[in-house]
Amino acid sequence: MTIHIGAKPGEIAETVLMPGDPYRAKWAAATFLDDAKLVNEVRGMLGFTGTWKGNRVTIHGSGMGMTSLSIYANELIRDFGAKTLIRIGSCGGMQPHVRIRDVILAMTSTTLNTPSSGIFKELNYAPCADWGLLHAAFKTSEAKGTKTHVGGIYSSDVFYDERPDLNDQMTRHGILGVEMEAAELYTLAARHKVRALAVLTVSDHLQTGEALPSEDREKSFGDMVEIALEAAFA
Ligand code: HPA
Repeated sequence: MTIHIGAKPGEIAETVLMPGDPYRAKWAAATFLDDAKLVNEVRGMLGFTGTWKGNRVTIHGSGMGMTSLSIYANELIRDFGAKTLIRIGSCGGMQPHVRIRDVILAMTSTTLNTPSSGIFKELNYAPCADWGLLHAAFKTSEAKGTKTHVGGIYSSDVFYDERPDLNDQMTRHGILGVEMEAAELYTLAARHKVRALAVLTVSDHLQTGEALPSEDREKSFGDMVEIALEAAFA
């Protein structure tokens, strides 16, 4: 048990999928895992451990934003021995060729700030995905017929953004989409020598104002779970 995770020793798998929303964790565990068991519910942040094709997997919510994800990822890695962490989440599209429902695999992520910024001081650290996971996820995603983009994203520390000029600079420099968690996940993974990847569905678009209809959200989320599971055990 840790401050934020009530699981007993051994109840967290080495492979952890991390949706932002705890109810998404519950849905994914019920839909994709065999023998899924609730292993955490501290503060309503749900985590489940079960098996997928015989492999042990935990699906645990991260909450929204890098500060929340940092708490869970730190404890999962340092206290429970997680070795592969895959964020499955949504993002806002930032390029005209990136469409609603497309999948983005984040190769790296730009930030203003992460919870780790303090240790880097004047350095602009470039958080980077695990290549093996990224490569496997790309193959799986393409094989499913999903339009898949690989490149840089923007991990913002606010959702209600008062600086649209920053988004304009991101778009101008080829950033594919904006979300709020991946950069810190990649940074923590690098620090602790474990693997990480963010698999993102484009749920809204900053330029067109389009949004994924709610009836499509479950299918897109399910596709991401499958991509993440296939990549983790490729
Ligand atoms: N901004 C930040 N995070 C997001 C967005 C967005 O537009 N869409 C989905 N996650």
